[in-house]
Amino acid sequence: MKLKKIVLTVAASVASLSLVAFALTFQEAGIESPEGKSIMLKDVPPEPRLYAIPPDCNLKDEESIKKLAEKGKKIFNTTSKGNCVACHCAKDSKGCGNIGPSLVGYRNGLFKAPDYRGNPKTIDWLYQKIADGRILIPKELQNIPYYNIMPVHITTGQLTAEEVCQVTAYVLSQE
Ligand code: HEC
Repeated sequence: MKLKKIVLTVAASVASLSLVAFALTFQEAGIESPEGKSIMLKDVPPEPRLYAIPPDCNLKDEESIKKLAEKGKKIFNTTSKGNCVACHCAKDSKGCGNIGPSLVGYRNGLFKAPDYRGNPKTIDWLYQKIADGRILIPKELQNIPYYNIMPVHITTGQLTAEEVCQVTAYVLSQE
């Protein structure tokens, strides 16, 4: 009887020790508790930046706007580019979303309404809005989810300055 008890005790100790060793192996391999914060923080976009319209981006001349807008339309509707159509409608766009305001008739409509600080919108404002709009949102609106949705395009490398020029022209062509 006594021997049986000793054997059982030894067996139980060996079993629990191997369980601890098993758990330690997993912890070392980083399987048990990956450090979530550092994984998530690497996706936070860089600080907001101001952008000027490049000298070769002519958004003052109607003919130039029309030409640039042809390429801008593609960027607006292409998932791997602007994908603006996921949230905004434009004239004749297919399957557009309504997460952001409709940009149909933009130039004679919403563009004429004052910005969030009560100032008139300009073409420079529009370019900045699409390049990295975060700077244009006043502090008191920044924590309201609607004003955090619009993606950042140049600072994140999603679009080049030239592509933002073209898609800005497309938005301006919505009359
Ligand atoms: C994930 C959704 C989403 C995507 C994608 C998106 N936007 Fe927006 N956009 C919004 C929301 C929401 C607003 C309104 C709040 C704000 O001003 O940020 C907005 C606002 C705007 C405005 C400001 C209108 C005004 O005069 O007040 C313009 C212009 C605009 N978007 C253009 C674009 C363009 C061009 C693209 C693609 C390059 C794009 N958006 C992609 C959600 C989006």
